[in-house]
Amino acid sequence: MLNGKKVLYSGMQATGNLTLGNYLGALKNWVNLCDEYECFYGVVDMHSITVRQDPTVLRQRARNLLMIYIAAGIDPEKNCIYYQSHVSGHAELAWILNCFTYMGELNRMTQFKDKAAKHADNINAGLFTYPVLMAADILLYQADVVPVGIDQMQHLELTRDVAQRFNGVYGDVFTVPEAYIGKVGAKIMSLQDPSKKMSKSDENPNASIYLMDDPDTIMRKCRRAVTDSEGQIQYREEQPGIRNLIDIYSACTGKTPQEVVGEFDGQGYGDFKTAVGEAVIGVLRPLQERYAELAKDKGYIDGIIKANAEKAGYAAAKTLRKVQRKVGFPDRIR
Ligand code: TYM
Repeated sequence: MLNGKKVLYSGMQATGNLTLGNYLGALKNWVNLCDEYECFYGVVDMHSITVRQDPTVLRQRARNLLMIYIAAGIDPEKNCIYYQSHVSGHAELAWILNCFTYMGELNRMTQFKDKAAKHADNINAGLFTYPVLMAADILLYQADVVPVGIDQMQHLELTRDVAQRFNGVYGDVFTVPEAYIGKVGAKIMSLQDPSKKMSKSDENPNASIYLMDDPDTIMRKCRRAVTDSEGQIQYREEQPGIRNLIDIYSACTGKTPQEVVGEFDGQGYGDFKTAVGEAVIGVLRPLQERYAELAKDKGYIDGIIKANAEKAGYAAAKTLRKVQRKVGFPDRIR
């Protein structure tokens, strides 16, 4: 609890261009939950360097991401939107938690296996201990709830295990967090291969809708989405392409998948794809407009960055001091 509210933590990597998957699986839920909780939203730039980055590009993307959080509707004066690298407690707690995490646990992480296969020339220790830094992000703020897409569930389970292990030795130090997974949109699939998740790093630009895509591009990508030859709009596993489009439409409009099936009963795929495109454009347009305004206001964004780094640092230091004392680090002499 913080200021009488439960605490929410989540973050995104400042790597690549954000996709509709990131928006529907995570960001949209952040916006819906932000009044109910005391929220911390990290731009997790420290995670980004587990894969080689161009420093200028990373810096720009980190700032763009921070503005996207605000443009999506999170008020940065009520919620703490900040850069992970501005709060040294993340790295300090990650070190301690590394000593409470087993190699075998990290070896089982599917994201590590995927990324190691993709970046075979740079399988660094940071890529391996990535989930420990993520656990530190969450536990540092004593988060009760962590809204993420399904692909982050395994990391969240590990976070819970590490928190419980630590608490088992030292008493109730960490809040054990719960995942918050949205009812629809928690796993948006590629538009070109609906057996794969929509991903920032997909090489085929038609596979993903990017948050900054213009309306024509969005419509073209929806129209080109891979479907099937069944010719019926039904929500079932045998039709993964249509099912994915139903998920997208449903997450954008707030209708349930069953309602969507009813709405398009008897209609062709072409009309449905157009409707999906329009729904996505309707959701992204206000975000893009707000983003364009924010990008002009350097002073305002700088002010947010400064104030929130302090706010996050303060909350983080509280947990870190407690943890350091528990594990036996000597008190500072003041
Ligand atoms: P990242 O940056 O890969 O993704 C950010 C968020 O978007 C969700 N997501 C999706 N949801 C639905 N469908 C998709 N196709 C899709 N693709 C991505 C992710 O589940 C995530 O919620 N390790 C994290 C970042 C992180 C973090 C944290 C998250 C670092 N520390 C602490 C929560 C709490 C990551 O790489 O997410």
